[in-house]
Amino acid sequence: MRIDIITVLPELLTSPFEASILKRAIEKGLVEIYLHNLRDYATNNYKQVDDYQFGGGAGMVMMVEPIDKCISGLKAERDYDEVIYMTPDGKTLNQSMANELSLKGNLIILCGHYKGVDQRVRDMLVTREISIGDYVLSGGELAAAIVCDAVIRLLPGVLNDETSALTDTFQDNLLAPPVYTRPAEYKGLEVPKILLSGNLPKIEKWRFKTA
Ligand code: ADE
Repeated sequence: MRIDIITVLPELLTSPFEASILKRAIEKGLVEIYLHNLRDYATNNYKQVDDYQFGGGAGMVMMVEPIDKCISGLKAERDYDEVIYMTPDGKTLNQSMANELSLKGNLIILCGHYKGVDQRVRDMLVTREISIGDYVLSGGELAAAIVCDAVIRLLPGVLNDETSALTDTFQDNLLAPPVYTRPAEYKGLEVPKILLSGNLPKIEKWRFKTA
């Protein structure tokens, strides 16, 4: 999988890919992440990527031209399955959306800022709009990192134990069962006896019931 992320704040998107599972996925060559600074596609000397909105009103709007230039350049190199726009009024991310996206090959993710993008970007270039929840962030970068995390961990070979993504909370519309590790008793709170019984069928039944 290849993910190209278009942003005015690439520095917000470095650390999520420099640790743990996402880092290893990149090192293993299972996913490639490319960050594109939208300012590099600005069409004037001030590196301007936003402007006042027509009709008046508070807040700047991200201009269509730099975004089109960046996306068209990428599309000239390869085909993309989706151009995703991160926005609070998009469709809310859930596990089935993450599953669906994990089957794609090449994705572009555009991070919104200010009052959002010129509507023509959405009409002309964007194929999918995703929100991570009904609250407003300062920009789409952290939301994009969440989408990437939810998707990349599902790619075959990313998790050591491939079954562990399948038993995640939400994969079967159930929550995960309670889990325990040592010690078996802590401050008077005991691990359920069944988990120490060694009776695997019974343990499975208990896990299903509690999930
Ligand atoms: N940009 C700002 N808020 C957002 C949200 N909740 N989801 C996705 N992108 C956003």
